[in-house]
Amino acid sequence: MGPGKGLLILGLMCVLTKSDTRCPKGQVSKRGDCVDEDECEYNPCGKHAECVNTAGSYECHCPSGFKKSETTDNVTTVNGQCEDINECLEDRGICGHTAVCANRIGSYKCTCRSGYNDNKESGQCVDVDECEEAEIAQEDICGMKGTCKNVEGSYWCKCQQGYTNYGNRKTPCSDVDECEEAEIAQEDICGMKGTCKNVEGGYWCKCQQGYTNYGNRKTPCSELDCDKFIVPEQTLEGLAAIWSMMRNSCLSLSSINPADEGKANGEVLLEKLFTATEVMLSPGQLDNTEDVSELLSTVEDSIRFVGPQLKDNSTRIETSQTDIDIALQRTKTRPTGPIHLTSENARLDTDWETASGNGTYPGFAMAALLSYKNLGEYVNESFEELKTHEEDAVDPTFQISSKVVSVVVSNPLTQKLSRDVNITFRHLQDMEESPERKYICAYWNERGAWSKDGCHQQRSNATHTVCQCKHLSSFAVLMALYPMEHTFGLVLATKIGLTISLLCLILCILTFKFCHSIKGTRTTIHLHLCLCLFMADLVFLAGISQTKPVGGCRFVAALLHYFFLGVFTWMLLEGVQLYRMVVLVFNATIRPLYLFIAGYGMPLVIVILSAIIRPEGYGTDQYCWLSWQNGLIWSFYGPVCFIIVVNVFFFIITVWKLAQKFTSLNPDLSKLHKIKAFTVTAIAQMCILGLMWVFGAFLFQKETNFTVAYIFTILNSLQGALVFIMHCLLSKQVREEYFHFLSCICPPQKKRYSDLSSTNPSSSQSQGSRSGQNTGESQI
Ligand SMILES: *[C@@H]1O[C@H](CO)[C@@H](O)[C@H](O)[C@H]1NC(C)=O
Ligand SMILES: *[C@@H]1O[C@H](CO)[C@@H](O)[C@H](O)[C@H]1NC(C)=O
Ligand SMILES: *[C@@H]1O[C@H](CO)[C@@H](O)[C@H](O)[C@H]1NC(C)=O
Ligand SMILES: *[C@@H]1O[C@H](CO)[C@@H](O)[C@H](O)[C@H]1NC(C)=O
Ligand SMILES: *[C@@H]1O[C@H](CO)[C@@H](O)[C@H](O)[C@H]1NC(C)=O
Ligand SMILES: *[C@@H]1O[C@H](CO)[C@@H](O)[C@H](O)[C@H]1NC(C)=O
Repeated sequence: MGPGKGLLILGLMCVLTKSDTRCPKGQVSKRGDCVDEDECEYNPCGKHAECVNTAGSYECHCPSGFKKSETTDNVTTVNGQCEDINECLEDRGICGHTAVCANRIGSYKCTCRSGYNDNKESGQCVDVDECEEAEIAQEDICGMKGTCKNVEGSYWCKCQQGYTNYGNRKTPCSDVDECEEAEIAQEDICGMKGTCKNVEGGYWCKCQQGYTNYGNRKTPCSELDCDKFIVPEQTLEGLAAIWSMMRNSCLSLSSINPADEGKANGEVLLEKLFTATEVMLSPGQLDNTEDVSELLSTVEDSIRFVGPQLKDNSTRIETSQTDIDIALQRTKTRPTGPIHLTSENARLDTDWETASGNGTYPGFAMAALLSYKNLGEYVNESFEELKTHEEDAVDPTFQISSKVVSVVVSNPLTQKLSRDVNITFRHLQDMEESPERKYICAYWNERGAWSKDGCHQQRSNATHTVCQCKHLSSFAVLMALYPMEHTFGLVLATKIGLTISLLCLILCILTFKFCHSIKGTRTTIHLHLCLCLFMADLVFLAGISQTKPVGGCRFVAALLHYFFLGVFTWMLLEGVQLYRMVVLVFNATIRPLYLFIAGYGMPLVIVILSAIIRPEGYGTDQYCWLSWQNGLIWSFYGPVCFIIVVNVFFFIITVWKLAQKFTSLNPDLSKLHKIKAFTVTAIAQMCILGLMWVFGAFLFQKETNFTVAYIFTILNSLQGALVFIMHCLLSKQVREEYFHFLSCICPPQKKRYSDLSSTNPSSSQSQGSRSGQNTGESQI
């Protein structure tokens, strides 16, 4: 190549360059003109994008199914400005739950899931009914003992009882070998004495001789003792019929070929049993309590035998004589949960644990409540074992107060249940309990008598009694009637005793008041002691039981408090006076005013203080006396104890001094004897009063004890009589005054005598003055 040629090319290039620079950006020169450049020719938008040329430039548009790339510069140059949208990710539900989504460049595709078909019309995936399809195709996808169940998108096979597809729901059902399975699981489905036999769709237990599953082929074999139904010698005709009926049924049951299930018919047998029982209960059949015991136990045994043969889990049969409700459960494992059985007049609440017991589980559990409608008259005696053991041994009389009810469960050990059963009885007559009338729960024991061990009354109202029992047999509610005479007798004794006491006290009061020969401080004290005792007894007699109205009762209680305290304060004054007489040998009287202040003031202060502090303690709902509950009673017993202690001190010293004086050189014997009598009286009086209130402490407690009440009443009556005998009848002066008084009242008889005595008036006068001198000591 020559240098000329090279220059030509260079010049050409110069020309080209010059023409280029003449056109603006985005235009190209074409034949000397600048025309718009079609940039799209170079595909500047990259893949997937649509390039639109514009004047001087171009635009990139993304078609549907694509989106603008977020990074435009360097990625675009490689992949273009548009990228594919993954619709399956952006909208997960885009195909619905019946189809699967697959992304395509610029679009997506929905494919039906298995079990769904593409519906040509709607374009949607719809469920395929595999069961119908199989039926049409005459395919047996679930086997003979399986039912095909179509579900959305699939199907499953429901196997009949005794068949399984071993958890593989879409495979056909096949027979379960229960025997093998039980062996693998080490379950004893037929019991120790049964052999498991597998059959198509089930199994049955073949029992050894002497064992049965009560006609229920799938329950374990349990022992069947038909010998217990051997008719005992010397039994009632009707009972013998029941025995032999049960024995025959038992023997045939043990020889039943389990293959013919349903031959054992518990329902029919139960009907027969109650027909026979009805005959037994008709009048004139049962003679004595032994017959009743025999009937009850025969029926109980029979129910225990018949119950497991029943088909239903709940059976009720009512006849004119009986009413029975039976609950039965045949579960693989021991059942749990509560049982409520009802009959017309009773209700049983227990649980399956109690009914089935702790022994080997026989594959069923049963509980029965049987109520006898007319057995009451046969068992309305035999109460001798019910003697109360309480202290106030008032023997009540009993009478039957509900229907007789038997409770039977499959658990053979019912002597000591782990949980108590509750039996609710309807009373024969609506009656509330009262002090004279108590309901007690009792059972008919094996000796043919009512007994209440292990059974107690939980609560009672007028119509029902709930009994809680630790064992099972036949039960009833009895009514214990406490003799009214006793309460009546006590009331009478109290009234008579108090009336005697009051009469004696009136005589004493009159004597002390009007007997001139014994006037003195001592007599004043006696007089007021008797007054207080008289008032206390009078209020006691009239008002102790008048608990209504409450205000009145409080007042009565306060009066009793005051007067009984008064008795004790005057007794204290007696002790003080005795002490003064013997120990201090004061030859002076105490001014009556001081006596009154002490004797009546002290109780008044105590009562006022008590009434201010605890007004509600006066009067209880049983007696108008001080309440034990809030402690007010101590405002009586406190002072009483104090007085007794002080008096005991005075009395000991007095007796000691008196004894000294008797042994002194020249004792004034007549005077000392009088003081001795006085002392003995005072001590006796204090003993009786103190003792009376010791018993009084028990008397007003909740449970009235009759013995205590009688002792209290007797001591109370003695109190008045004692004062009268000791202070009046045994006192010579008083006796003389009585004679004098009586002779004034009855002059005709004594006329001659008085005439005679009046012949020597001076002598009788001197007699009187002498006796006045003799009683000089009483003036102290
Ligand atoms: C794209 O450009 C950026 C800067 O503009 C650069 O950092 C990046 O490495 C480039 N990416 C590729 C793949 O070239
Ligand atoms: C008795 O069986 C029926 C159904 O068979 C059941 O509903 C009922 O609860 C069962 N009763 C008892 C007491 O188990
Ligand atoms: C019996 O009654 C008592 C007291 O009401 C209760 O605690 C107990 O659970 C009851 N027993 C049964 C078996 O219902
Ligand atoms: C029965 O079993 C229960 C608990 O399993 C136990 O508390 C109870 O003592 C057992 N009773 C007897 C009599 O074995
Ligand atoms: C039981 O005997 C008493 C009297 O002894 C009588 O009043 C009562 O009605 C009798 N009850 C029954 C159920 O026979
Ligand atoms: C009496 O007690 C029973 C059993 O507890 C109850 O069902 C009945 O409602 C009670 N009656 C009255 C009047 O309270």
